[in-house]
Amino acid sequence: MSEWDGTTWPFGKPASFFAGAAIGAFFTTAIALAVMMWIASPGGIDRDPMAGAAVSADGEALANAQGCTACHSIDGSTLTGPSWAGLAGSVRTLADGTDVVADAAYLRQSILEPRAQIVDGYPAAVMPQYRDTLSIGEVNQIVTYIQSLGP
Ligand code: HEC
Repeated sequence: MSEWDGTTWPFGKPASFFAGAAIGAFFTTAIALAVMMWIASPGGIDRDPMAGAAVSADGEALANAQGCTACHSIDGSTLTGPSWAGLAGSVRTLADGTDVVADAAYLRQSILEPRAQIVDGYPAAVMPQYRDTLSIGEVNQIVTYIQSLGP
């Protein structure tokens, strides 16, 4: 048995064989985890086909498909709701007089439970609550999209 010459790594296989096997196992595990998380997510395997199709779309397509953009502009103009232009990271004054920063948590809650924090000057019960309609993954996609619009 000659000394290891650097081209094979134990058991007479080249190191690339083990690297390939490790990468293969990693992706198989990742895909299995993703499927399990999808099944366990709100709506999961029972979600309706339209919402299922939207999962693969990005936040912008999702916002259009969900009708958000009927009430929210992305160019700064005010529709039924506040514009999303420059919203992320800005200070929002709420109807109860408190100021909050529109961070990711605020944006998520504004979508899932809009009635929890009403933006000053806007009607309280107009925006639908999306907590039973959108998965957390979908909400995060939309939040990422809103964050891409500024400030
Ligand atoms: C029928 C009109 C309407 C629809 C549809 C609608 N919204 Fe709203 N939205 C509003 C109104 C009005 C407000 C302001 C009152 C409040 O805070 O709930 C608001 C507030 C918000 C805020 C907080 C904005 C701020 O300036 O702080 C976010 C974020 C938001 N909506 C996201 C969404 C998303 C995402 C969707 C679609 C999944 C959506 N909205 C659909 C009317 C709507």
